[in-house]
Amino acid sequence: MDPAVTYGSYLRVDDLLSLQRPRSEGPEHDEILFIVIHQVYELWFKEMLHEFDYVRRLFEADDSHRAQHTLKRILTILKVMVAQLDILETMTPLEFMSFRQRLEAASGFQSDQFRQLEFALGRKSRHAIARFPEGSRAHAALERRFAEPTLWDAFLRYLWREKYRVPESQLSRDVTAPIEASPDVQEILIDIYRTDAKNAGMCERLVDLDEGIQEWRYRHVKMVERTIGVKRGTGGSAGAAYLRTTVGAPLFPDLWEIRARL
Ligand code: HEM
Repeated sequence: MDPAVTYGSYLRVDDLLSLQRPRSEGPEHDEILFIVIHQVYELWFKEMLHEFDYVRRLFEADDSHRAQHTLKRILTILKVMVAQLDILETMTPLEFMSFRQRLEAASGFQSDQFRQLEFALGRKSRHAIARFPEGSRAHAALERRFAEPTLWDAFLRYLWREKYRVPESQLSRDVTAPIEASPDVQEILIDIYRTDAKNAGMCERLVDLDEGIQEWRYRHVKMVERTIGVKRGTGGSAGAAYLRTTVGAPLFPDLWEIRARL
């Protein structure tokens, strides 16, 4: 007979607690925090991807109520993810330097789940896939998401089924290409904001999401500036100077373009 399920066996607590393996001698006190924070992020990324897949399926099934409910859950997770940076900011530059060289070339650059999130939201690049070895889990996952419609594509197709005249060029656009502003889509969105409270609410959740991701990028770059200043990243980029180039670019440009006309 199988042993009774317990808290520990169900959650695999022994396995989980064996996964934090500092590389510094001692080890340095703050390295555990650094590892735990990153592992927690990876778990949240996993959960977010799980929820994004669900939202896309809900749009495909025209279940706007649950789609909006799930978007709210995603936004709540995102808020927690942003707030977690406060914890890492209690680590001073000297504390980080006590183990930083042990990271070698390891970097957030290599988080495939973060890239998957970007892909799901429309920021796709072949270059990002090429960083991961052929045949790896990460490479396969990114290839799959590269080919999949983005959340925005699923939303536009949902709007079309809601009887909005989304142009064919948008409905059949190359889903691997960047999401670009479309004056036709903007007309539809303005109409929605003026006359359709249900779908206007959905648009607002997508703006929350877009703003939330930008907020994470902004907070991450500020944390980087206060921790390593202008030093280069372990992943080989210019560090904060590179990260600043990623802040402020909207995921869903049409939802921002229309604001001045509402
Ligand atoms: C002391 C803390 C941290 C420092 C100093 C730091 C530094 C950096 C730097 C310099 C980069 C640019 C790439 C490179 O050259 O390495 C980067 C990228 C990145 N970091 Fe961090 N990071 C920290 C914490 C975190 C945490 C907690 C996460 C959560 C998962 C994270 C996720 C990422 C991601 C996803 C990227 C890629 C961003 C992009 O390309 O847009 N970082 N980080």
